[in-house]
Amino acid sequence: MYKNDLLTLAIESSCDETSVALVAGGRKILSNIIASQIDVHTAFGGVVPEIASRHHLENINNVTDHALKEAGVTMDDVDFFSVTYGPGLVGALLIGVATAKSYALAAGKPLVPVHHIQGHISANYLEFPDLEPPFMALVVSGGHTNIVRVDDYNSCITLGQTRDDAAGEAYDKVARVLGLGYPGGPKIDKIARTGDPDAVQFKRVFLEDGSLDFSFSGIKTGVMNYVNSEKQAGREISVPDVAASFQEAVLDVIVKKSVGAAVENHEDKLVVAGGVAANSRLREKLSEACGREGIRLCVPGPVLCTDNAAMIGAAGYYKYISEYGSDRQDYLFMDAVAQLPL
Ligand code: KG4
Ligand code: ZN
Repeated sequence: MYKNDLLTLAIESSCDETSVALVAGGRKILSNIIASQIDVHTAFGGVVPEIASRHHLENINNVTDHALKEAGVTMDDVDFFSVTYGPGLVGALLIGVATAKSYALAAGKPLVPVHHIQGHISANYLEFPDLEPPFMALVVSGGHTNIVRVDDYNSCITLGQTRDDAAGEAYDKVARVLGLGYPGGPKIDKIARTGDPDAVQFKRVFLEDGSLDFSFSGIKTGVMNYVNSEKQAGREISVPDVAASFQEAVLDVIVKKSVGAAVENHEDKLVVAGGVAANSRLREKLSEACGREGIRLCVPGPVLCTDNAAMIGAAGYYKYISEYGSDRQDYLFMDAVAQLPL
């Protein structure tokens, strides 16, 4: 019924990346421009929401022009628009949503609202052309740690999630305690490679038997307590050892729960998504565990792991073909939503 090459212009602005992409048929990236604000926020040790919104506003039209140019298309070639409408920083989301509405209104073409986490999961459709649901998904980002059973392109169930900090948030906070700066995930990833993961035994928190939920606030406090007590005792800490030990404890839990969920639910594929999916040790550990269980592991390349608009275009495509007719015009009443369940 629908052409495979339906072209969407997708926008992502939920945090500190202003991104616009052109994606054909939900699977082919024509362009994926990402203007990162990391340098701006590094000075503050984290993302400052108000500054993020202003930068989105300043950048978004230029990023759009750049994306169209790189894809070699014009607005006339676009069949529909896709935009992240939540969850995220509401002021940051608003810039993307308002921009997408104005593009859609001016072009007289439909607009599909996309859930940010659905986008992260859909990054895998871009990376792995043969990948189709059902599968188990592990979403590990700065705001989320979810185990999701994906039954179909637009149908999924969250089986477990964090009860406090997200995995990326724990990485960022521990990096700050260790004086590594922002964003902490990639810094810990790098420095941990030179450390001993068995140097400090941080507690692995598995919660109740059979639970697929997570809790990472305890390990963050554990690292802080360890650093303080060593300092008070006049001993110098080894940052690589602490980083490696923290990482190993967090990843032991994530890997055990996500691979266990795939096995229990008889899924033969585990799909990983979100910024923390770029972590090299997580990839290593998942690949070992999935290999043992005969599960196919899918992890996108680093660019598709962190926030980008191409993943929103992939998710938008499947939403469009399943529930959006080309005459659906209710998008103008869509809102940006900070907290949004999957
Ligand atoms: O998905 P993402 O780009 O934004 C959100 O939707 O949250 O994820 C950002 C998070 C940050 O917490 C960052 O520290 C973490 O992903 N991250 C990593 C790595 N690269 C990014 N964490 C661990 N290892 C990495 N290599
Ligand atoms: Zn994200």
